[in-house]
Amino acid sequence: MSTDLLGKSALVSGASRGIGKAVAAELLRRGANVVITARKPEPLEEAAAELRALGHQGEVVALAGNSGDPDSRAAAVGRAVSEFGSIDILVNNTGINPIYGALMDADLDAVRKIFDVNVVAALGYIQEAYKAWMGEHGGAIVNVASVAGIRSSGVIAAYGASKAALIHLTGELAWQLGPKIRVNAVAPGVVKTKFADALYSADEERAAAVYPMKRLGVPEDVARLIAFLVSDEAAWITGETVRVDGGLLSTGGI
Ligand SMILES: NC(=O)c1ccc[n+]([C@@H]2O[C@H](COP(=O)([O-])OP(=O)(O)OC[C@H]3O[C@@H](n4cnc5c(N)ncnc54)[C@H](OP(=O)(O)O)[C@@H]3O)[C@@H](O)[C@H]2O)c1
Repeated sequence: MSTDLLGKSALVSGASRGIGKAVAAELLRRGANVVITARKPEPLEEAAAELRALGHQGEVVALAGNSGDPDSRAAAVGRAVSEFGSIDILVNNTGINPIYGALMDADLDAVRKIFDVNVVAALGYIQEAYKAWMGEHGGAIVNVASVAGIRSSGVIAAYGASKAALIHLTGELAWQLGPKIRVNAVAPGVVKTKFADALYSADEERAAAVYPMKRLGVPEDVARLIAFLVSDEAAWITGETVRVDGGLLSTGGI
């Protein structure tokens, strides 16, 4: 068992399923204590029970709340510090995409909501973690972006623009918060979760065929990368956005 995060305290937002839950499991496996959040309390408690049942040394605290709500963010960060004595690791994993299709048809309230949850809430969480612990003691932050924030997608354009903003925010914050705090991002391709269902479930083989690795991602692919980025092994990496996309962005037109 890896123990490189032994005694560290982590907060993973949006972690009752999918990538966030896999990240929480990987951080626990490496020795960390973890606070997980999501909006719906019941699935969140079920996820916490599943994570505890993995039998790792670290503790799991589940706190229901919307990442878009400032009080929920403050409560989650406060809980990590009161329960575990610190918040050394923050994974801004919450992301929403309520609209598909042409930007000319996009409902602007929905676009605002996408930016609020995917970008503003991530900054809000970082501000809370900074005030509560990291500003004085340091830490490592990973923002979960997307390949849609690097290359245009067409179908999920507003979401992609929000992830591009999150990638830019990552670089600005790495500059402003170094040397004590490292801030990185990951940019996954399609990962098999509920969130991405509409992008692949009708014909998974066809969706996977465009990837050099000839398969779609699974949450653990992303979780292992995030665990590396928050560990001391990544001590000289900050401001970076790492693709975890089975090679997708290495393909395309000339
Ligand atoms: N799956 C992909 O192909 C893919 C690709 C690139 C990037 N990403 C990014 O990866 C991240 C995780 O996605 P996923 O695929 O793992 O999604 P998922 O399986 O749908 O899980 C989303 C998690 O976030 C929670 N959540 C959603 N909205 C929330 C909010 N406003 N406040 C707090 N929690 C919230 C959900 O629980 P509740 O519903 O109970 O709140 C759930 O626990 C997102 O940032 C997404 O943009 C995903």
